[in-house]
Amino acid sequence: MGSTFQRVMNPHIIIFLRIIHLVTGQFKIIPPDNPVIGVIGKGVILPCQLKAKTISERLSVQWIFTTNSEKIDVSTYDGKNTQNPVSEDKRYQGRTNFFHTEFNKGNVSLYLKNVMVSDKGKYTCSVFFENWYDEVVVELNVAATGDESSIFLNGHVGQGIGLTCKSQGWFPEPIVVWLDSKGDMRKEEVTIQNTKTSSGLFDVVSSMNLEPRSDMEVSCRIINDLLNTARESRVLFSDVFFPSASPWMTAFLVILFLNVAVIAAIAYKLKSNSKRTLDAKQNKKKMETEKEYLKEALETEEKTNKGAKAENRKRLARYQVELDFWEAQSHAVPITVNPDCRELELRVSGALDTKSHASESAELSAASTVPVLVGQEGFTAGKHYWEVEVEQQQDWVLGVVREKGEQEEGGLLPTQDYWALHRSQGELFASEGDVRVEKEQLRCSVIGVLLDLEESQVKFYEAVQMLLLVTIPISLAKEPVEMFHPFVPRREGTFTPFAIRPVRIPVPLKAL
Ligand SMILES: *[C@@H]1O[C@H](CO)[C@@H](O)[C@H](O)[C@H]1NC(C)=O
Repeated sequence: MGSTFQRVMNPHIIIFLRIIHLVTGQFKIIPPDNPVIGVIGKGVILPCQLKAKTISERLSVQWIFTTNSEKIDVSTYDGKNTQNPVSEDKRYQGRTNFFHTEFNKGNVSLYLKNVMVSDKGKYTCSVFFENWYDEVVVELNVAATGDESSIFLNGHVGQGIGLTCKSQGWFPEPIVVWLDSKGDMRKEEVTIQNTKTSSGLFDVVSSMNLEPRSDMEVSCRIINDLLNTARESRVLFSDVFFPSASPWMTAFLVILFLNVAVIAAIAYKLKSNSKRTLDAKQNKKKMETEKEYLKEALETEEKTNKGAKAENRKRLARYQVELDFWEAQSHAVPITVNPDCRELELRVSGALDTKSHASESAELSAASTVPVLVGQEGFTAGKHYWEVEVEQQQDWVLGVVREKGEQEEGGLLPTQDYWALHRSQGELFASEGDVRVEKEQLRCSVIGVLLDLEESQVKFYEAVQMLLLVTIPISLAKEPVEMFHPFVPRREGTFTPFAIRPVRIPVPLKAL
């Protein structure tokens, strides 16, 4: 015990007390289960439990770390200072704690924070208690599980591929095994070049050479026996990775890259769509409150200001229009149209194929057939909205086509079975009654279509300016079941349909 011992008590008395202890056998330290394992970076309890009938609060405890060459005073409790341990060595500064409230139960265990590799060793717990003394040795073993292991490709080595497995921060030095698809040890020769870092931890580096035509599933497992933990990474190689097939490897990697890019694009699209849904919701809500506010303002201003009144009426009307549009857009559904889709020949008036500028009446009366592409989706009830990008295209026709159960596929449909908006020579027409749609300064680039089977109508909107262009009623028959399909124009001379603009995901209006 030596010097540290003397600091606490007079050696003569201690020898005397030790005899007393041996005689009476009243007190005892329960020997701990050795060794204690501390995980590096975590805390550990060095146990020291006193066994006695009654335990005085005036006991002293001293913990000493012993190596072959030195003895370090880890932490001492002198029976007076109840808060902080005294004479704590630099190496353990701020890292130790006693459980003061446990002293009366004889628990003088030491809590050691942030365990380090250098903490590994033997600790003596010495207890001085009135006229009694005893000690016990606790062995602390330390261990650490490293980070995730990774397998790296070193490139081609002969006919095979060089592989390296890496992982950092292990203690003690772990076992590294390379396994095959069945979990058996691989036959290949393995080299290990582990390094010890300044903190005493081990960085694992293990390499092997994978030959072609061997088991292509490679796993690198790193094991800490002390903690019973392991890290494993598994890779399945394809033949294309081997030098004999190298021309394919580039193609494979390019395809892989493209796939990743496509997935990223889809993910982005989904995200922006749902964001737009949120925007639509918020816009609608904002507009509703503003509408309420304007109504109130209108009522109060009625008597006083006629000019403001007119202005407010105009704004209110505009909000009404926009609100109607937001409502329509909240029924957005995805529509699929591709060049493989079914084609229909529609008979429309309005001389879509007439190049000459004939008189208005002649244009209207001239009927022609136009090829359109029918969307894959079919609707029998409810409200559905979609948008078609017409950009600055001159002539187009789009809308909704009805099919009855017995309708022949691809056949020429009678005029009353579709509801369309068509543009011919810069002018817009609604299919029903060849109504010319009059709108000032209309630059149609995106057309919104609302198929409203609840109120038996089709509404066409100019989606950029949020204008309602025309409402066409539908006469619904009860029997047989009718199916309504969207249709879009085909680009002139090609089989490419006009683009369907992805609109917001449907917003349930009741949720607002
Ligand atoms: C002593 O007290 C601590 C804290 O309450 C507890 O974790 C430990 O198990 C107790 N006993 C021993 C023998 O360490």
